[in-house]
Amino acid sequence: MSTLRPSSGRGPSQVNFPAEPGNHVLDAALRPSEWDDYVGQKQIKANVRISIDAAKKRGGMPEHILFYGPPGVGKTTLAHLVATTLGSPLKSTSGVAIERASDLAAILTNLEPSTVLFIDEIHRLSHKIEELLYPALESGHLDIILGKGPSARTVELALPPFTLVGATTRAAEISGPLRSRFGGGTYQLDFYSDEDLRDIIARSAKLLGLEAPADVIEHIAVRSRATPRVANALLKRVRDFSEVHERPLSVALADEACELFGIDAFGLTKDDRRYLEMLLASFRGGPAGINALAAALHEDPDTIEHVYEPFLLRLGLIERTSSGRVLTAKGREYLQG
Ligand SMILES: Nc1ncnc2c1ncn2[C@@H]1O[C@H](COP(=O)(O)OP(=O)(O)OP(=O)(O)O)[C@@H](O)[C@H]1O
Ligand SMILES: [Mg+2]
Repeated sequence: MSTLRPSSGRGPSQVNFPAEPGNHVLDAALRPSEWDDYVGQKQIKANVRISIDAAKKRGGMPEHILFYGPPGVGKTTLAHLVATTLGSPLKSTSGVAIERASDLAAILTNLEPSTVLFIDEIHRLSHKIEELLYPALESGHLDIILGKGPSARTVELALPPFTLVGATTRAAEISGPLRSRFGGGTYQLDFYSDEDLRDIIARSAKLLGLEAPADVIEHIAVRSRATPRVANALLKRVRDFSEVHERPLSVALADEACELFGIDAFGLTKDDRRYLEMLLASFRGGPAGINALAAALHEDPDTIEHVYEPFLLRLGLIERTSSGRVLTAKGREYLQG
């Protein structure tokens, strides 16, 4: 375990390591475009591919699909793979972008036949938009209301066949009725094993034209928060470090780079440590309410809950209880170094 250096707030050396969505240029460059390159998540891959193959045999479109899981674990990548495998156009949008009924109507009525409609952050759809979406998902039509008052009437507009692929980091925020429209096509993506991360890093290194020794790949894998996006971003940072210092990739160099970035042997960042330290120092190890904790850290409660905490929970350093967040014995041990 690396030594624990107390950090207070966001100093100039504060590293906001990309556990968060972002780094889209790198995402696009390294995004697998074939199933064989999509590492891990075996069961999900097998299930999705079966429903695609069955649909192709029938000459139709597969059932609607929902992917959920932490940021950077491959949800968007899967949506792209679904469209590619079907040979379908992909129309990407987001729950935030569909504000009004007319936004959704415009999207749906302009779909080319057999499109994969990808709605990212699908939990952000309003109740009103969801209701409009239901008939489109169930029976392929849109209910349009013409006129106002007593003379108003509903017209059914038939839509071209399409498959909705929804993605979210917040499955709990998706309404029951919307969730039920995905039926059996709901998949939870999990964090990745070190072995899978090694494969992902090795592939990315090749694509970036890097000679990465196995021990360097291993070093990066265990510091990647069990997340492919973080693995790729960390690899790229280590590469930059090696270029700037004109030194070949080695474990010693990767270690120095991680030290400089504030990433420890567990993949925890300064922000993670600040969270754990705050929980211990200001809340005596908890239970601490999320809002109180967020205020103390000057962070957004959403970011804390959906970006930082999932990995801290996975490592068993904290627990979420009904009365708040609690530092576990393992968490205390970690802080003691
Ligand atoms: N299973 C995988 N195999 C190989 N690379 C992967 C895999 N999953 C993700 N990646 C890599 O990680 C990057 C981020 O993945 P992606 O954008 O699909 O994550 P996401 O789950 O949609 O994240 P977010 O919740 O932030 O939208 C991809 O561009 C790809 O390079
Ligand atoms: Mg995504």
